[in-house]
Amino acid sequence: MSDPFLRSGLRPDEIPADFVVDQRFEAYSPADHETWSRLHRRQAELLRGRVCDEYFEGLDALGIAADGIPNFRALNRVLERATGWQVVAVPGLVPDRVFFTHLAERRFPAGFWIRRPEEFDYIEEPDIFHDIFGHVPLLMNRSYADFVAAYGAAGLRLTEPDDLARLARLYWYSVEFGLIETNAGLRIFGAGIASSPGETIFALESTSPNRIGFDTTRVMRTRYRIDDYQQSYFVLPGFDAMPELDEAPLSAAMAAARAQSELGPEAVLSGDRLLHRGEGTHHQPPQQPLVA
Ligand SMILES: [Fe+2]
Repeated sequence: MSDPFLRSGLRPDEIPADFVVDQRFEAYSPADHETWSRLHRRQAELLRGRVCDEYFEGLDALGIAADGIPNFRALNRVLERATGWQVVAVPGLVPDRVFFTHLAERRFPAGFWIRRPEEFDYIEEPDIFHDIFGHVPLLMNRSYADFVAAYGAAGLRLTEPDDLARLARLYWYSVEFGLIETNAGLRIFGAGIASSPGETIFALESTSPNRIGFDTTRVMRTRYRIDDYQQSYFVLPGFDAMPELDEAPLSAAMAAARAQSELGPEAVLSGDRLLHRGEGTHHQPPQQPLVA
């Protein structure tokens, strides 16, 4: 993985303990704004009819448009009034406890740099397009916003690495790669999907991956791929069904997950609410998957 500090152009001694830096909005070049515009136009077009309505409602209310990279100050004026959240600029991925603290206090750490034109289709670490276009629209939704804050608080309470890994799977399979059932049909809400043109189509329309009803303990047992599209997507019946992360319900789900075996990302169980059984064709031939 390339060094995120290098990507941000900041030296380590310019980065404070909470990793929050100025967005340096004036420093974006016309080429940076053009990259944003191209990404936005392509992805907004693809997402029509594929992403949940709440996503576009948030995007429009926040004024996240194709005309250029958004200024966090303008976003925060709207976001803070709606759900008490704000976006803060960070140089790249931040340590877990820093990340959890920001989320628990309703600050969403967003990379402020944008990918280079030659990385248009794929980057390893999240840039401003993934973080702002992918995540921030749904922070306008009360249930999603509360879930992400509760996730941060839960991360601060847990100390065992295995428990933290189980918690991370809940975030991965919902906030990053979640699907949701709506009156209009199956829709995307995960930011990892919503910011990726390839996965937008794959997650929703490919016959390859499993699509399984979301169950908190089941998801906590399920490892995930970090090197390719997901082999299984989990489907929430609605935003009201985001997992309960207060101390008592999370402890109960965690205890149940600890008592059962871990599952591979391709697993299908007899007790699953299976919306689609994947043919697995995309991930053939079998290889040693990179999982976390
Ligand atoms: Fe993300």
